[in-house]
Amino acid sequence: MSIPVLTIDGPSGAGKGTVSRAVAKKLGWNYLDSGSIYRALAIALQKQTINLADELAIATVAQSMALEFDCGEEFLVKLDGVNITDQLALESTGNIASIIAAFPEVRRVLVQKQRNFKQLPGLVADGRDMGTVIFPEAEIKVFLTASAAKRAGRRYKQLIEKGIDANLYTIIKEIEERDRRDMERKTAPLVMASDAFYIDSSEMTINSVIEEVLNLIH
Ligand code: DC
Repeated sequence: MSIPVLTIDGPSGAGKGTVSRAVAKKLGWNYLDSGSIYRALAIALQKQTINLADELAIATVAQSMALEFDCGEEFLVKLDGVNITDQLALESTGNIASIIAAFPEVRRVLVQKQRNFKQLPGLVADGRDMGTVIFPEAEIKVFLTASAAKRAGRRYKQLIEKGIDANLYTIIKEIEERDRRDMERKTAPLVMASDAFYIDSSEMTINSVIEEVLNLIH
């Protein structure tokens, strides 16, 4: 039986996570937050003395790390049995994730871990290369973006609400740097799939984005 897949790709802070979770919940589908896999790897590396330039050593950790996802009321992630959900959200974790995600061998060993999420009754997959590399066969693909200033403002608000100290100017700089790295890497760069719907959420509320995506599905 064919399993429907909706992919939502786009740059950091465009609202992919919130939209994907809401749509998955509404449809009763499974949810893959692929960024959290790269973020979990960044956390796994911080616990060991591995040089961030050592591609093969990083790929070995990626291969062996045991991740558990609980997508119930609250999104919860465990790495080797330990709850790392709060650490995942840190900007420093996202920045390391973006650096190690540029290694082809790291991406290669994570392909199957991501494809395993494709299960009945369907999957909403959020990331950078969901529609281009991991699930090119997906029925519906969305490329969700927003201006760097808007994305930085939203990220700032999220961090402050979580009680995490943040500086707006630093976040804008980091977002621009992360965009550049994610778009310019050679393997699976952030690009819009040729068959994706483009949504710019700069001037939209999150609810109207969710509605637009649900309309596309229906
Ligand atoms: O979506 P995010 O901010 O949690 O992702 C963190 C980093 O992980 C992002 O800057 C690049 C990398 N990433 C990736 O290369 N491919 C994906 N499918 C998802 C994330």
